[in-house]
Amino acid sequence: MRRCCVLARVLGVYWVVSSLAIAQEAQAPRAQEPQAKTEAKQRPAKRLQHGSAKSYMGRPIADVMSFEGADWLFRASREVEERPEEMLDALQIKPGDTVADVGAGAGYTSLRLAKRVGPSGKVLATDLQPQMLQMLTANARAAGVKNVRAIQCTPTDPKLPSGQVDLVLMVDVYHECSHPKTTLQGLRKALKPGGRMVLVEFRAEDPDVPIKPEHKMALAQVRKEIEPEGFVFKESLEFLPWQHIIIFERPADEASKPQDPPKPTTEK
Ligand SMILES: C[S@@+](CC[C@H](N)C(=O)[O-])C[C@H]1O[C@@H](n2cnc3c(N)ncnc32)[C@H](O)[C@@H]1O
Repeated sequence: MRRCCVLARVLGVYWVVSSLAIAQEAQAPRAQEPQAKTEAKQRPAKRLQHGSAKSYMGRPIADVMSFEGADWLFRASREVEERPEEMLDALQIKPGDTVADVGAGAGYTSLRLAKRVGPSGKVLATDLQPQMLQMLTANARAAGVKNVRAIQCTPTDPKLPSGQVDLVLMVDVYHECSHPKTTLQGLRKALKPGGRMVLVEFRAEDPDVPIKPEHKMALAQVRKEIEPEGFVFKESLEFLPWQHIIIFERPADEASKPQDPPKPTTEK
């Protein structure tokens, strides 16, 4: 009887210990998967005052991420969550290219782009917030990068030179643009004919992506907003853990055509 009790106790302890181990394993993040769910949610935002509409084509426009939260853009987990080098590999950027990093923030992507375009190329890094551009410039200087130009733009004017850009890249930016229509018109004008515009956006289709809904975008919504502005959809790459890479082109044969008459600039 006494032996039975001892055996039952031993089995009980074993059951508790193994259940705890299984529960812990279930909670532990798997290797190479994004881990920082709570961190990714802590995205600082503020509404900049520029008389923007609150929505565009049925989509709420997100608040602009404040420069006060620029550290979040360099969080340690970002490489695993967003795989920035693989994203850029997929875009096949060439030495000598001119790339506009629109909404560059403090330069997380700009500095990587600078290496890829090399000394014969340039990165035009734009942002609305001068404080972001100051941080970007300091980061470029610290990294010894000389081919990044910081450009302060406005919500309605990207402030890029006409017809000189090979690639416009917006990483986690488009959903914040308060005047999407006029911004897109300006970006199309900046591209060389045949140049590409790429949006990297958190997938709205996936409820498990731990970002607020207004900071995500669905592919169908992106196409609905971008294509009427004279961009041709090329493809959407879906290998990143959380984000779409959506590629558009300014058609090459547009060069021979007369310029479109200016479109009305209503944002709704
Ligand atoms: C979430 S942050 C992303 C920054 C950077 N692309 C990165 O991935 O590290 C969004 C940035 O876009 C900028 N932004 C928002 N609307 C913009 C616009 N219309 N034109 C240029 N920049 C804009 C904000 O000021 C902010 O720095």
